Amino acid sequence: MGLWKYLSDWLGSRKVEAKILCVGLDNSGKSTILNHFKAKHDRRHEMAPTMGFNVETFKHSRIKFLAFDMSGQDRYRDLWERNYAEADGIIFVIDSSDQLRIPVAKEELGHIIRHPDIESQPRLPILFLANKSDLRSSLPAPKCAQLLGLNGEEWEGNNLRSKSSDVRPWYICSSSGKSGDGLEDGISWLSQKLIHRVAKMKA
Ligand code: GTP
Ligand code: MG
Repeated sequence: MGLWKYLSDWLGSRKVEAKILCVGLDNSGKSTILNHFKAKHDRRHEMAPTMGFNVETFKHSRIKFLAFDMSGQDRYRDLWERNYAEADGIIFVIDSSDQLRIPVAKEELGHIIRHPDIESQPRLPILFLANKSDLRSSLPAPKCAQLLGLNGEEWEGNNLRSKSSDVRPWYICSSSGKSGDGLEDGISWLSQKLIHRVAKMKA
């Protein structure tokens, strides 16, 4: 039995559960994106602004995701931090067609990165989705990364840069919650990071 368990772990057949937080400004497309990850028969047909938060579940790779779909409205943003300590990963959604509010998104990102419960988890992965790529006014993912300062000096002390060996894993890609474009790319990256992270924490 012990040998079999060892072998099955080794072969990567063990199911992994991961709790993720989906955050970002209101109207960026968080609920639409999470809805897309769910099985077709479980998807909602009507999407309304989230009040507080909702919990959604879906599967990808061999991960069972418990996704906290947080409201991005100003009055609910204080709720985000309540879940940081328990999170295995974060999805940060940006409306790439709303260039005017990217500085606001950057400010919220700063609050996340500098929060003690996030700082204490330097390997907690963050997936950035530059959403609404189907709109003509949308900015490409590298431009969103630049406007958020993801490659800049400012995050260095907070492990978001990709130079030192102990950097926070992060990835940005364009997505469309409407068509689904880019979502597989993003969730595959996150799944891969989570499998490593959860396996390491259990080891
Ligand atoms: P809050 O719950 O208020 O924080 O918003 P949210 O981030 O969950 O946004 P939601 O998923 O409710 O989407 C807001 C609006 O954007 C809806 O009208 C969606 O149909 C639309 N939307 C979401 N993703 C996309 C996308 O990729 N492209 C386009 N064109 N519209 C999108
Ligand atoms: Mg929502």
